[in-house]
Amino acid sequence: MGTPQPGIFAQGTRSHRHLEFVLHADRAPSAVLAALAPLRQPSVAAGGVNIVIGFSPALWRELAPTAAPAHLSEFPDLDGVPSTEHDLWVWLHGSGDDDLFDVARTVAAHLRPVASVASEVAGFVYHDSRDLTGFVDGTENPSVEEAFGVVVVPAGQPGAGGTFAITQRWVHDLDRFHLLPVTEQEGIIGRTKADDRELDDHLKPPTAHISRVVLHDAEGDEIEIYRRSVPYGTVNEHGLVFVAFSADPQRFTAMLERMFGVSGDGLRDRLTEFTQPVTGAYWFVPSLEALGDALG
Ligand code: HEM
Repeated sequence: MGTPQPGIFAQGTRSHRHLEFVLHADRAPSAVLAALAPLRQPSVAAGGVNIVIGFSPALWRELAPTAAPAHLSEFPDLDGVPSTEHDLWVWLHGSGDDDLFDVARTVAAHLRPVASVASEVAGFVYHDSRDLTGFVDGTENPSVEEAFGVVVVPAGQPGAGGTFAITQRWVHDLDRFHLLPVTEQEGIIGRTKADDRELDDHLKPPTAHISRVVLHDAEGDEIEIYRRSVPYGTVNEHGLVFVAFSADPQRFTAMLERMFGVSGDGLRDRLTEFTQPVTGAYWFVPSLEALGDALG
């Protein structure tokens, strides 16, 4: 069984940074592997910064064809849900922006011969893990122990010990959202705002966010993902960097289809009236062993 990258599960970090890289057109695969080699054991760098590395499905297929998992798939084509895939995703999180900044520059310097930074977003934990709307985000996440089973590609399959990730930067219209009475805001999320309780079924609209994203399989078991989102932004533009992991990216697609009203029941997540994704990508996040094998 491969070992998942430990930063996926590391807790208690209040500063986050997401970097996406695009490879130079003329790069040779061997040069890409050489540039990535110093990152073959992403874990905790000096200063306690966690590093998680994801590859676009196309790049992972190219670099490690025999370690490509069965479910490796591109971001879905959905109306209103932009796909902005780049080649590499590096997620850094730690206790302070100072160390994160240093590590981000070091990573970019390693990759400079083959790739340039295509996007960079700095995120932060807001109060007691709330989204900028004021609602606690992450409550129903699996615990770290359970998360392992939710996200890791099982032993015996290509890609074992790896996981799939989705990243999306959402831009909120907070002024409009905060004009609504709190009871209406609560109906949009499906939970109470101050004390983060799930609304009773008779009070929870079918268009509430949690009504749209709680899915069950044929046996009635909940289909879970493991979320690691954080708020980001400036006074002028702000929102959520949505980040989640799963052993099967189809789970993300099924949730997005229900949020954006294309799952066949004619309902749409009311949250999407107040926030929109402006980026979107699926990544494969290989196990430490698969990374080591690919990078030599
Ligand atoms: C701006 C975008 C989003 C915001 C502000 C947001 C916010 C929230 C909040 C406040 C909760 C309730 C507390 C909790 O259990 O964490 C929640 C739950 C959840 N969200 Fe989101 N979310 C967003 C996007 C998404 C997307 C894109 C997905 C899936 C692709 C998703 C999947 C989930 C799931 C699975 C839950 C747990 C539901 C449960 O088990 O009760 N969310 N989200």
